[in-house]
Amino acid sequence: MRVVSGIQPTGNLHLGNYLGAIKNWVKMQEEAECLFFLADLHAITVANDPAKLSANTREMAAALIASGIDPEKSTLFNQARVGGHAELAWMLFCSTPLGWLDRMTQFKEKSGKHKQRASMGLYSYPVLQAADVLIYQATHVPVGDDQKQHLELARDIASKFNSDTGQEVFTLPEALIHGPAARVMSLRDGTVKMSKSDPSDLSRINLSDSDGEIAKKIKKARTDADPLPSELAGLEGRNEARNLINIYAAIADEEPQTILSQYAGQGFGSFKPALIELMVATLSPIREKFITLKSDHNALDQLLQKGADKAAKQASSTVDSAYNALGLLRNS
Ligand code: TYM
Repeated sequence: MRVVSGIQPTGNLHLGNYLGAIKNWVKMQEEAECLFFLADLHAITVANDPAKLSANTREMAAALIASGIDPEKSTLFNQARVGGHAELAWMLFCSTPLGWLDRMTQFKEKSGKHKQRASMGLYSYPVLQAADVLIYQATHVPVGDDQKQHLELARDIASKFNSDTGQEVFTLPEALIHGPAARVMSLRDGTVKMSKSDPSDLSRINLSDSDGEIAKKIKKARTDADPLPSELAGLEGRNEARNLINIYAAIADEEPQTILSQYAGQGFGSFKPALIELMVATLSPIREKFITLKSDHNALDQLLQKGADKAAKQASSTVDSAYNALGLLRNS
């Protein structure tokens, strides 16, 4: 079992990233060989501020370590330090049909009405993502629900390359998407996912939020006037209520049904303070650690370089096999 996953170093780590992906990464470190990376090459597919990107990359590394990723157990690095990702992406671009990329919903969302102005990088983003996991022969890729389509594409790209070349160059990776937090929704609107790009900061909990900010955001989180039901079916059509229950369950490592059994019949006036208490108890130690780690640039740079050196060694045999399979001559 080899686990590979990544996160874009754009802005803050939020509760959706933490519960949907990072918390699972931390658990998997104990069970499998893991490689986790900061997808800085993906971050430049949209307007880029170079100074901010460097700062965000280091900060995201600090956030992952503060959340429990142990660089001694897992290989932690930023994509740009391992040239093989971009090299392999080029080889995959050449065998991926345009029609497959036309189906990608994330490109449609991100490019909006201005498709003609979007970069080729944004359009081909999922092919680089495929390279990210195929290069390490990943068997499992723990992600949130929004990455499902990209992971399905990665499998298709791997199969096509293997069959086009007649060689088993790539392992087909499996997406791991599970738990009540696979899709954490906005605190302001239970029909859209919590995201870094939402203009309202009240829509998300950031890892850097103070205890007071967490409390304020949960108090202001949209809910409804009904008491909590005793069964999951009672949350049907109550998106905001379901989201808060899922968040509670994910933090507490419980099933949503267990939480409902505990709070059935109670209103948000009593559920919200309990959620705030649990959230603050979980996030404040992470925040404190994050604040200490993020200012030590040298330590973070060294650590990312060490991770990248290790990752590059693992990547090189797949890159070599891909060049060979295509008949590209090198290393003679
Ligand atoms: P990114 O940076 O948007 O998000 C990182 C991880 O957090 C998950 N996530 C969520 N999970 C639950 N609820 C939410 N509201 C929520 N928002 C984000 C994402 O599903 C993801 O697992 N394209 C990727 C980065 C990437 C990658 C890869 C991932 C690049 N290469 C290879 C896996 C494998 C992205 O933009 O994730």
